[in-house]
Amino acid sequence: MFEPKFAERSKLLKPSSIRQMMAIAKELLAQGKTVYELNIGQPDIPCIPEFVDGIMRKAESRQINYTPYNGETYLRETYARYLNSYFDRRGVDHLVIDTENILVCAGASHCLSNIFLTICNPGDEVLTIEPFFSPYQGFLAIAGGVLKAIPTEAENDFALPSNEVIESYITEKTKAILINTPNNPSGRIMSYEELERLARLCVEHDIYLISDEVYREMIIGDEEAVSVLQIDLHDDELNEKLINRMIVVDSASKTFSLCGVRIGFVISLQPIVNTIALVNAHTVACISDIMQYGVASCYDAVMWRPEYIEEFRGIYRERLEATMEAIHRYLPKCIVSRPKGAFYVMIKFPELEDVNEFCHYTLEHFNMGGETVALTPAKNFYLDPKLGKNEVRIALVVSPEKMKRSIQIVSQSLKSYKRYKANIDSHMRQLL
Ligand SMILES: Cc1ncc(COP(=O)(O)O)c(C=O)c1O
Repeated sequence: MFEPKFAERSKLLKPSSIRQMMAIAKELLAQGKTVYELNIGQPDIPCIPEFVDGIMRKAESRQINYTPYNGETYLRETYARYLNSYFDRRGVDHLVIDTENILVCAGASHCLSNIFLTICNPGDEVLTIEPFFSPYQGFLAIAGGVLKAIPTEAENDFALPSNEVIESYITEKTKAILINTPNNPSGRIMSYEELERLARLCVEHDIYLISDEVYREMIIGDEEAVSVLQIDLHDDELNEKLINRMIVVDSASKTFSLCGVRIGFVISLQPIVNTIALVNAHTVACISDIMQYGVASCYDAVMWRPEYIEEFRGIYRERLEATMEAIHRYLPKCIVSRPKGAFYVMIKFPELEDVNEFCHYTLEHFNMGGETVALTPAKNFYLDPKLGKNEVRIALVVSPEKMKRSIQIVSQSLKSYKRYKANIDSHMRQLL
């Protein structure tokens, strides 16, 4: 039989179990079943209307062309203005960003792949904080890099460990510390003090600080996110060293419910941005013309109409309220910490040993009145196989009523699953 030959690099990439769960849910939906897809990290609310206006205007021009490899100037200018106004609206000091500091890529995912291809040699390490957005591992593997993770605990509100602990993970191969705030999956927002600590460590150890801030606008608690662009080390020399090592990533996907549009941004010093842009030039050539046009209309709109952000925050807050109430009521033994940002909730099931089987059981073998729920097993968000085994992540992607209904289904499924496991155990005992 013909065996295709592949490069070693391709063997490092594994299909994600999140996608496998999604495929099963889609199959059940195609069969006409009702599945609440809480496994998907995709906002369900309609995109901002200005996107449609922008796209229509561009389409009507009938000029859809190649674009500059670092992104269209009008989008880079508009995004830089948006970012400065984002901080000004909150009245916080920040690094002023200009057009030359912005690079456009095909979503934050592509930004991160490009960054790793630019800064990592094979075998280089990037440190991140557990739990983390699982695709980081694959993005880095393509560049030949290795992800290392510093654990944090739900019981301790996922707080950043001490400098001593962090430094014990830094080796001569470490190229960067990669953080994500607000965090997917924990919903945690890093404090100014934590970011300042990380910034000082990166300067001291001469490594990059990469900050994934795609959820900057998705605040579902009462505390705003802090950006690394706000950090002031109160020393000109240290601040300059930090600026030379800082790379921020953002995206239109979550802010405007535009996951399928694939537009993201790298924000950094001009020489860093220009070098990462060369990866765009030599891989995808350039980013979609019409999509950049549509997204520029969105950033332009929120500068004049910030209520849009407040409106979508309100929708997610209502869903969170209903979900937290339902968890406390229907899953009283579960441990849950209230997320402050992004739109996910992590639920720990102390009674379960391996939640993966429970997630499959719920989706494939359990229903309540013909309805079931797709969950994401949280082990995907940890490198350490011992961690996350009894945790799931749910996304706040359906109405408050449906979120409550989903938690009721999970609670009934848990009872049914425990009976099923007990039956298997007693059957096994009879056989022995
Ligand atoms: C933390 C985090 N970073 C990056 C991404 C990728 O975003 P994009 O759609 O812009 O590629 C996601 C998507 O879920 C995410 O959760």
